[in-house]
Amino acid sequence: MGNDIFDSAYDFCSLLPLFYNHDSTIAQPDQEFYNFGIGDICKVPDLHEILTDTINKMFKTTPSLIGRLPGMQGHDGLSSLLANIVENETGLKTQKEDLVLTDGGCDGIVLGAMSACCPGEGLAYAVPSFPYWCVLRGTSIVQCPIAFESPIDYQKQFVKRMIDTLDSNPRIKAFILNEPHNPTGLALYQEDLKKLGQYVTKHNITVLIDDVARGLVHVDSENWWGKHFPEEKMILIDSFTKRFASPGLRLGFVRASDPFKKNIRGYVANFRGGVSNLSAHFGFLLASIMMNSGKIDIVRNEVQRRMLLLRKSLCSNQLNIPEIHVPDWGAYCIISFNGINLKSGFNGHDIVKSLFSKGIKVLDDKMLFPPELQFPRRYNMIRLSIGGEPRVEEGMQLFHRLLKEIIDENIKTPNN
Ligand SMILES: Cc1ncc(COP(=O)(O)O)c(C=O)c1O
Repeated sequence: MGNDIFDSAYDFCSLLPLFYNHDSTIAQPDQEFYNFGIGDICKVPDLHEILTDTINKMFKTTPSLIGRLPGMQGHDGLSSLLANIVENETGLKTQKEDLVLTDGGCDGIVLGAMSACCPGEGLAYAVPSFPYWCVLRGTSIVQCPIAFESPIDYQKQFVKRMIDTLDSNPRIKAFILNEPHNPTGLALYQEDLKKLGQYVTKHNITVLIDDVARGLVHVDSENWWGKHFPEEKMILIDSFTKRFASPGLRLGFVRASDPFKKNIRGYVANFRGGVSNLSAHFGFLLASIMMNSGKIDIVRNEVQRRMLLLRKSLCSNQLNIPEIHVPDWGAYCIISFNGINLKSGFNGHDIVKSLFSKGIKVLDDKMLFPPELQFPRRYNMIRLSIGGEPRVEEGMQLFHRLLKEIIDENIKTPNN
């Protein structure tokens, strides 16, 4: 018998092993791997020391912090600090009351979607993507994924296909936009963003701006890509855990105007748990220590260092793979095997397994599409992330060598 909530929880759990994309019987200790599979940002030098300082400060936390419920504003100090960051980076006037603290960017997406769409209304987004389908399963929103077979298709066709989808489905009330799109790493063209912004204004559509990557680059508000969208139709989703490389904290925040803000606060206060006071306070201490010691940029500097090395390595394209797309920015890139004639039955999934057995973790395309979505060229891509791997140069050298070997062994010949 179908039980929606149970079924979605089951679906979600059945997907979890794919995050690690390996068979536990051949697992090796983490340091023996180059880990280009993990999406979180971690292993940032100097951060360990700052976290130790934060923990020491946390011991002095007043017990009353635990003895009361978080107010509607979450944590005042943290919200003020984050409001300042948002205003500087986006140019949007932002006060602490404009933010709601969430359980990571994930929760921000769910809350944003629930405030933009009534039960039964639709939400569109591009796939491959972060697994939005998992986080949204518990809602009554109809999900409308739009599939792209290659990063370049995404970059060139996204805006047209999104507008066509919205035009032909009046029940779709909102869409998610993520720049640069995880996993393609490619950014949309400015003129396309402008066109989409005009569409949103004219048709009363809400845009969920998944801006979790903003904390990973140096941005000035003049060039912020979200400026093309009307503030009153925008729900801005951000991740504390990404920008402060602390995935274990599970902290995020949403900036929205009314009526969305009111709805989101209502959900957080009455329906969802919201963040724990301890996480919020830890986040406040961590961010304050980083700011006061002039280390607020260490995460984005490290991500940019890793990204430059990844770009350099991909630019050299020693593999002769037609569809290597050097990412614009962010933490991810896609390698698709569309242009390679692999022997029958051998696909991206086998490549991931083979790389894993030789010491490289990358993400399988299974995690990048909703499981029920089938189209002719599934399992033809892999995602690389520099989020958790500081040793990009050596790791990529090994990656190139192994991938070349795997492809050479499995290329289609007249005999196979
Ligand atoms: C595009 C995108 N959106 C949202 C999230 C979720 O953010 P968080 O880890 O803060 O929940 C991630 C995490 O990797 C992501 O890559």
